[in-house]
Amino acid sequence: MRTSLLSIVPILASMLIACASDDSREHQSVRETAPQSDACGAHRAGLTLPADVPASAEVINLGRRLFSDPQLSGDQSVSCATCHVPTRAFADGRRRSVGAHGIVTRRSTPTLYNVAYQSKWLWDGRASTLEEQVMIALQNPEEMGMTHDLVGQHLRNYNSEFLSLFGQAPSMEMVAKAIAAYEKTLLAANSPVDRYLYCAEPNALSALEKEGLELFSGPANCIRCHWFFHETVHPFGGRMALFTDGRFHNIGAGEFEDAGRGAITGRAEDWGAFKTPTLRNVSLTAPYMHDGSLATLREVVEFYNRGGVMNSADPSIRPLRLTSSEIDALVAFLNALTSMEVEYATSN
Ligand code: HEC
Ligand code: HEC
Repeated sequence: MRTSLLSIVPILASMLIACASDDSREHQSVRETAPQSDACGAHRAGLTLPADVPASAEVINLGRRLFSDPQLSGDQSVSCATCHVPTRAFADGRRRSVGAHGIVTRRSTPTLYNVAYQSKWLWDGRASTLEEQVMIALQNPEEMGMTHDLVGQHLRNYNSEFLSLFGQAPSMEMVAKAIAAYEKTLLAANSPVDRYLYCAEPNALSALEKEGLELFSGPANCIRCHWFFHETVHPFGGRMALFTDGRFHNIGAGEFEDAGRGAITGRAEDWGAFKTPTLRNVSLTAPYMHDGSLATLREVVEFYNRGGVMNSADPSIRPLRLTSSEIDALVAFLNALTSMEVEYATSN
């Protein structure tokens, strides 16, 4: 089994590299700057650039600049990067964030790493494309507080660039297109866990982290929702190993009334359900849960160990009876999901 896996993976990886190689100069410079092990981790975890990234490096560069330009907010005080801070894995370390006009967000800011590989966006999944999500962020009074008219007014200095790239003056739709293109390049998949699972590096994880992986995939059953393809489950080591099933569950987390997915679908069974978050780079994105109500990873694991709270509707959330050292092991495993691309982002 292992021999055949190892013989197939390089072929698969080279196919993926070939697919991505003509994407753009910009992507290549990301590749060149990223650590060597990226070639193994990212490709074997299936996290290569998505096929629909536009070929133009100019559009991605424009998206990157717009992402951190406060002209994109109603009162010109915040940019996407105010809350999605590159050095914090594109989250912000706060329970709630402060948007345009000082309005505080209802929920906690999630990471944007590997966001291209989600299938629904936002904690309640109300956006079904990344472009649509950017349009929501721009117009949401809690975030950017923008209007279509203000885009034209605030972005006059981008006029000639938009005209040459899109044949029109700045519009919200084209802003969304450029920012979404940039977001799709934010990939992180070469953590110690990736190197252990997908790169045949048995020493990439410590004994404690390995114990955590066993608990995660076995008795603690985290894998039920924080899904990833393991070679014993899927021979290619997996595509889109995001440590999420992309679904919505009510695990009972949160201190305030929030219907979550239920407000979108109107179905009673979705009440209080939120999208399973990716666990990649979770060590960098505290505090946790949709309302940031748990401060540390240890608190999160203790929450699960208690069986959530009384209103956890999902039957798999039940007391786990983990010992203190097993809790340590799970926390160590979660910490080992940290990728080096963060250093790449930091050094930029
Ligand atoms: C004031 C802080 C703030 C600003 C500014 C902001 N965001 Fe967010 N972002 C959030 C919060 C909070 C959420 C979660 C909201 C929810 O789920 O209801 C979020 C969610 C997202 C998501 C969904 C991620 C996922 O996994 O589902 C994306 C993508 C995103 N933001 C991109 C952007 C972009 C692009 C901009 C700029 C146009 C932006 N955000 C501006 C706070 C902010
Ligand atoms: C029934 C599905 C399910 C199971 C089982 C499950 N989770 Fe979760 N997990 C979720 C959902 C859904 C959320 C978000 C809940 C919210 O915000 O209200 C979450 C949130 C988290 C977070 C916070 C991430 C962040 O960015 O805020 C961590 C860490 C986490 N889970 C780890 C674990 C671990 C460790 C286990 C096993 C002990 C586990 N999960 C079991 C569905 C699940």
